[in-house]
Amino acid sequence: MAKITWKTEDGKEISADVKDGLNLMEAAIANDVPDVDGDCGGCLSCATCHVFVDEAWLERTGEVDDIEDTMLEMTDVERRDNSRLSCQLIASPELDGLVLHVPAP
Ligand code: FES
Repeated sequence: MAKITWKTEDGKEISADVKDGLNLMEAAIANDVPDVDGDCGGCLSCATCHVFVDEAWLERTGEVDDIEDTMLEMTDVERRDNSRLSCQLIASPELDGLVLHVPAP
């Protein structure tokens, strides 16, 4: 289980306890986080699950692989160094407390 917090650009904060193994796009949708769409269902072909990982958590969220890196070029909001596709972030005890910032389209 990991407590995940999504922060939106308009100042909303949504937190949820997410079961281990669930990806954070699915968790965002299940918790009505705005602007995380997950159009492709998590198969890395839409980039609509784009989030910015809070700087304090960058080391724990791991590396972007080549396919995710390519897809991050297709986000609506320009990618940053801390951009991730949240379908590639998997809940685990190591991510307990993770903060994600949701870019507004
Ligand atoms: S849900 Fe489509 S790339 Fe993440």
